[in-house]
Amino acid sequence: MKYSLQSGGPIAVFDSGVGGISVLRELARLMPGEDYLYYGDSKHAPYGVKDTETVRTLTCGHARWLFDQGAKGLVVACNTATSAAVRTLREQYPYIPIVGIEPAVKPAAKSGEHPRVLVMATPMTIREEKFRRLVALYEKEADIFPLPCPGLMDFVERGDLDGEDLHKYLTELLYDYRDNAVDAVVLGCTHYPFARRQIGSVLGSHVRIFDGGEGTAREMQRRLAAAGLLRTEDRQGHVVFENSDGNDDKLALCRKLLMLDY
Ligand code: DGL
Repeated sequence: MKYSLQSGGPIAVFDSGVGGISVLRELARLMPGEDYLYYGDSKHAPYGVKDTETVRTLTCGHARWLFDQGAKGLVVACNTATSAAVRTLREQYPYIPIVGIEPAVKPAAKSGEHPRVLVMATPMTIREEKFRRLVALYEKEADIFPLPCPGLMDFVERGDLDGEDLHKYLTELLYDYRDNAVDAVVLGCTHYPFARRQIGSVLGSHVRIFDGGEGTAREMQRRLAAAGLLRTEDRQGHVVFENSDGNDDKLALCRKLLMLDY
C-alpha cells in the first residue's frame, strides 16, 4: 500500500520509550507550526540490550502504525532503532521522508585539537556496523572511547533524574573518565540528554557535551522542505503522545520531559 502524504499531517517521532522527547523538543523549537505524533514503545523497552532482528521488527511495526495515522514523515528518534531498522524502513517507504539519529561523533571529534571523546550509547548501538563505520571516519581526528551504558535509560523511563541512585550509577560507570581523562562526551542515546546535568557533574565542567537532537531536527526540516511537505501557515502546532505502556503516568512523564529544562 502506498500512502498519500499531506503537508497537514503530523510528523511522527518514534523511540523505544520517552528518550526521543529530547529530539521532539528540538523539532518543536525549529518547526513550532507543525503537529507531532510521538510514539514510545516503553512496554518493550529497553531496545539497546535486545538483538537486532527483534528491534527491527518492532520498529517497522510501529512505523507502519504511524503512517496509518497519516504521518507525513518519520523521525526515528532512537539511535538503537536507527542502527537496526532505518535502512529497511527506507527500502519499504522510499517516497516518505524518514530521518534517523546517530551519535554526534563528528562535531565532538572536530571540537578541538585531537580531542579525547567518550561516546555513551546502548550496547546495541555500539556493537552495530553503522557505529563502527562512523568511528572509522573520525578516528584520525580524535581518540574515541565507546562506552556501552546498559541500565542508564531505565532511570529516565522511571523519571528518576535527580536521585542519589542515578548519581551513584554514573559515578561508577564513568569512574575511568573523570579527572580530565576526556575532553568531550557524546550522548549517543536519546534518553541520555535528560541526565546531561548529572553526567556533566561527574565528568567535570571542562567536558563538552554533544547530542544529535538538533542536527536530526534540521535534517527533517530539509527533507520535508525538499518534498514540499512543510506547513507554511502561521499557527501553533500541537503534540500528541502515545505509548505502548498504556499507563497514564507514562503519558504524564512524556509531557513533563517535553517541558523540562536540562
Ligand atoms: N533511546 C534509545 C536510543 O537512542 C535507546 C534506549 C533503549 O535501550 O531502548 O538508543
